[in-house]
Amino acid sequence: MKFSIAPLKALAALKTDALVVFVHQPGTSCGLVEADAVDQIAAEAAQDGDFNGSLGATYTRSRPAGLAAKRLVLVGLGAAPVDQAGWLKAVQAAAGALKPLGAHQVHLLAADGEQSLADLVPSAFGDAAYRYTATRKPEPAKAYKVEAVHLLSRHARQAATLKAALGRAEAVQAGVELTRNLANLPANYCTPSHLAKVAQDLGKRHGIKVEVLTRTSIERLKMGALLAVAQGSHQPLRFIVLRYDGAGRKDAPHVLVGKGVTFDTGGISIKPAAEMDEMKFDMSGAAAVLGAFEAIARLRPKLNLVGLIPATENMPGGRAVKPGDVVTSMSGQTIEILNTDAEGRLILCDALTYAERFKPASVVDVATLTGACVIALGHVHSGLFSPDDALAESLLKAGKLAHDSCWRMPLGDDYADGLKTHFADVANVAGRAAGSITAACFLQRFAKDYRWAHLDIAGTAWKSGAAKGATGRPVPLLVRYLLGTVEPDNKA
Ligand code: BES
Ligand code: MN
Ligand code: ZN
Repeated sequence: MKFSIAPLKALAALKTDALVVFVHQPGTSCGLVEADAVDQIAAEAAQDGDFNGSLGATYTRSRPAGLAAKRLVLVGLGAAPVDQAGWLKAVQAAAGALKPLGAHQVHLLAADGEQSLADLVPSAFGDAAYRYTATRKPEPAKAYKVEAVHLLSRHARQAATLKAALGRAEAVQAGVELTRNLANLPANYCTPSHLAKVAQDLGKRHGIKVEVLTRTSIERLKMGALLAVAQGSHQPLRFIVLRYDGAGRKDAPHVLVGKGVTFDTGGISIKPAAEMDEMKFDMSGAAAVLGAFEAIARLRPKLNLVGLIPATENMPGGRAVKPGDVVTSMSGQTIEILNTDAEGRLILCDALTYAERFKPASVVDVATLTGACVIALGHVHSGLFSPDDALAESLLKAGKLAHDSCWRMPLGDDYADGLKTHFADVANVAGRAAGSITAACFLQRFAKDYRWAHLDIAGTAWKSGAAKGATGRPVPLLVRYLLGTVEPDNKA
């Protein structure tokens, strides 16, 4: 889909497949002097009881009188003022209203919301058009027909600002779509080597350095925790390193770490059968890191970024790691693996140790880490854990701005004490209580000498049930956060 800014000239004479106008309640006037025909139709629809301008309501009229447009679509904004959540709802409603129509070219007009449209339209329309097609034929009848979306701008002076916002939103959406496609892919396609291939392809497309470590190098690095998880699988493991250099060599990079468990059976501590298929999504953290790189590589901000992806399956089998086994992590700390299903923290801890070599400005790990996080926060907020108040604040703010929110959870020794054991420096699980927090406490032991935050996306990375599929979260949050570290007017 193509997005652009178009100057608003004579509205009545505008030739388009669909003119979409956002209108306030009550009065249902679009707030433009030159839009009598639109106001007339809105008034008629209100009189007939078909449309009252309430937030998210829509009304479509074919061959609207007094307009050259083929269709007029009215979208309600509710009572002024409209907040960002309201704009999002309205823009999503607009994208939805166009679904059953045959319109290819559409023009959007919001008298007092041009900036909001530029920020929100690419994600709302991108999500409306999104179809998974990797392992099935697309249904032509259900295809979204919109091909080009033009945002009508009344103020030529603002065109540059709008264009920049639109470009940013498009780049984020490209990242979200990469993440969704990758996370949706079944585990027999999306193996650790496939993740590596996608990273290498991303590197080639954007001129980003990508290094893929295989078993020999991973053994040489002594990543004993990652190797323990991988030892039950026939799929070869990978450790993927991406580097985007947008700033000077001396600028400390930000590091993103993504959990890349391409399928999590639980290992010997095997999971129940129900919904186990959803554990193909257990590489969503890795997919989000790649999606964030896609967006950053398109936007080319002046910052340095490193991506680290430990990638493996978690399988049972004759060679699999067993409950009670003690392994030595890259950090030198020994870990008693009491539950082989707590594998995410095992592969992440070695990646967190590897991150030290970059002397990073910040490290954010992203992982579908715990079912407990889903119980705590549901599917609304991602779980945010960090001992660093300023970093936590930046991520919270970025999440809010990007409509991809997270909620801060506590850390602390009183929780970490649950990980004590007689047989190693640390156990990989504590009790059932506060499971997402004790998991984060485990990671914290390995996140040394740099500013660190952990995002548990177990509840937000995908949807279950009828709408089953990857969401692309938290790519919008991550990109906002990264841009906020260098753009003063976008300070997250
Ligand atoms: N990948 C799972 C977490 C998960 C479960 C995410 C369900 C989304 C939905 C993770 O590897 C895991 O199995 N965690 C265990 C930890 C437990 C053994 C301490 C869990 O949450 O049950
Ligand atoms: Mn698991
Ligand atoms: Zn897992």
